[in-house]
Amino acid sequence: MTEETTVHLPVMLNEVLEALRPQPGKAFVDGTLGGGGHTIALARLVGTQGLVLGIDRDLDAINRAEKRIKSQDEPLSIRLAQANYCDFPEALDMLNRQRVDGILLDLGLSSDQLADQNRGFSFDSEGELDLRFDTTEGAPAYELLNRLSAEQIADIIYKYGEERYSRRIARAIVEFREERPLRFASELAAICRRSIPGPRGAMRIDPATRTFQAIRIAVNEELKSLESFFDVAAERLAPGGRLAIISFHSLEDRIVKTRLRDDERYEVVTRKPIEATQEEMDRNPRSRSAKLRVAERKFTD
Ligand SMILES: C[S@@+](CC[C@H](N)C(=O)[O-])C[C@H]1O[C@@H](n2cnc3c(N)ncnc32)[C@H](O)[C@@H]1O
Repeated sequence: MTEETTVHLPVMLNEVLEALRPQPGKAFVDGTLGGGGHTIALARLVGTQGLVLGIDRDLDAINRAEKRIKSQDEPLSIRLAQANYCDFPEALDMLNRQRVDGILLDLGLSSDQLADQNRGFSFDSEGELDLRFDTTEGAPAYELLNRLSAEQIADIIYKYGEERYSRRIARAIVEFREERPLRFASELAAICRRSIPGPRGAMRIDPATRTFQAIRIAVNEELKSLESFFDVAAERLAPGGRLAIISFHSLEDRIVKTRLRDDERYEVVTRKPIEATQEEMDRNPRSRSAKLRVAERKFTD
């Protein structure tokens, strides 16, 4: 289901613009277009002589952002591509661009995906447990959970969700599917809630949060995309150009931190990650776990 308009609020927009310093005529890649909030803001600042290439794996996001871009009151120099952000060099090749002046990644899922009842991102949606960003690639999450052993499922939930009750949840999934195949997001949410002990009220987050995150990361191979991105990014970033990456959990942030620190082609700009202001956290609770790291491409290789 494609919603007409985005409900996603761009996280740390001012901080991202300050980090990337877009100027008229410059070129940027936004590898995670989402609702297009960051892309449009960047495009306004680079002007019609500049370029922003917006990439997303999710065709619904591309279509939604395209409509939003067309409805803007000024012409914007934006090109869109449905791809994995780690393949951005191919998308740049198609535009005959070798290097860009900045790249943004705002990782994870958007509020639009969460609001879509048919994708399974939202725990209590009646939709199938799909969890893919690109629904044309690979298999939906429920297939994975119906196929893997309890041990393999527990490993995923532990590794990508850092969930201490991973074994208990995995066992409950296997017990469930002995009766009938697991299919819906609400079924997995109910299994998680049943499997995690303790009074609900005392918990800060929904008991299903870590498990859904873990399965989503596995289905989309999210950490692999991030690692592959770092393998190619520095080569396509102009000297003095900047990389800004917003992550939402410690697994991603750890990769970003170490890849930037260990690559001599980067000068790390943020020793400590930038976090959202209290005002933004109050306005947009999604921003609470966001961490922004910035690095500059050195002039020497
Ligand atoms: C947090 S949202 C981005 C929101 C956007 N910055 C905005 O302000 O509207 C993340 C987006 O990245 C996309 N995404 C996640 N992993 C991706 C990948 N490996 N390649 C391309 N897009 C990806 C998701 O489909 C989602 O639309």
